[in-house]
Amino acid sequence: MSEGTSTNEEQSPESTAFSNDLVLTQDGTHTLYSARFGQWYHSVHGALEESRRVFLELGLAYFREVFPERREVRILEMGFGTGFNALLTLLEAGELSIRYTSLEAYPISPAEYRQLNYDAVMGSGELQALHEAEWNIPVVISPSFMLEKVHAELQAYLKTAKGPFDLVYYDAFAPGSQPELWTPEVFAGIARLLPSGGILTTYSAKGDVRRALQAAGFRVEKHPGPGRKREIVRAIKD
Ligand SMILES: C[S@@+](CC[C@H](N)C(=O)[O-])C[C@H]1O[C@@H](n2cnc3c(N)ncnc32)[C@H](O)[C@@H]1O
Repeated sequence: MSEGTSTNEEQSPESTAFSNDLVLTQDGTHTLYSARFGQWYHSVHGALEESRRVFLELGLAYFREVFPERREVRILEMGFGTGFNALLTLLEAGELSIRYTSLEAYPISPAEYRQLNYDAVMGSGELQALHEAEWNIPVVISPSFMLEKVHAELQAYLKTAKGPFDLVYYDAFAPGSQPELWTPEVFAGIARLLPSGGILTTYSAKGDVRRALQAAGFRVEKHPGPGRKREIVRAIKD
């Protein structure tokens, strides 16, 4: 692990040795470019379009469809990042009570999240509250949305996490940049946190990713992606 990437107690969750550049994507919503990982936080073809399709439609809407009787959903997000997935999920809560746990090893800075145009585009006002919520404890953001941001690396979190979760938004940086986050071992660690029928969605449909999910006990479905992206994945724990 390089200097500045430690997640120990002394390090403020706000601190980061790298800055991220603000980018306007083709649907008018912002994303960031990570110098640390050489990756965009969302598709440059449309951050809103991507998040809606991969996580809200394939994930949350599907959960509602298959579990219409459920009044609560427990979501685990890999990578809090800009908070956009969290914001979109909060805005879609409706009658559902959402417990949203989001992992982040390298939080963005206040100067970075204050520039994001998500509240302006969505007509919402909660982005700042999501970012300012204290780390590592559950915080009530709205009557239907409880957020727990966990400042940790996924691999460390999986050693002690208990779950259970109903739905996982797997939004790590791409396998080409962080292959260690797309392994059968990592997915097996996540599978342990899900009941049978638990759902994971992700934007990567690469063969290695699908095989790693299958090896971890998921049934893998390919679905049409947003915009130009041909395929994305929904995986169901068998
Ligand atoms: C694709 S971005 C997430 C985008 C985010 N969901 C959003 O809506 O903005 C991936 C995130 O994973 C974080 N990350 C990278 N390695 C990590 C690790 N080992 N454990 C936890 N988070 C990690 C990055 O800092 C980044 O915020």
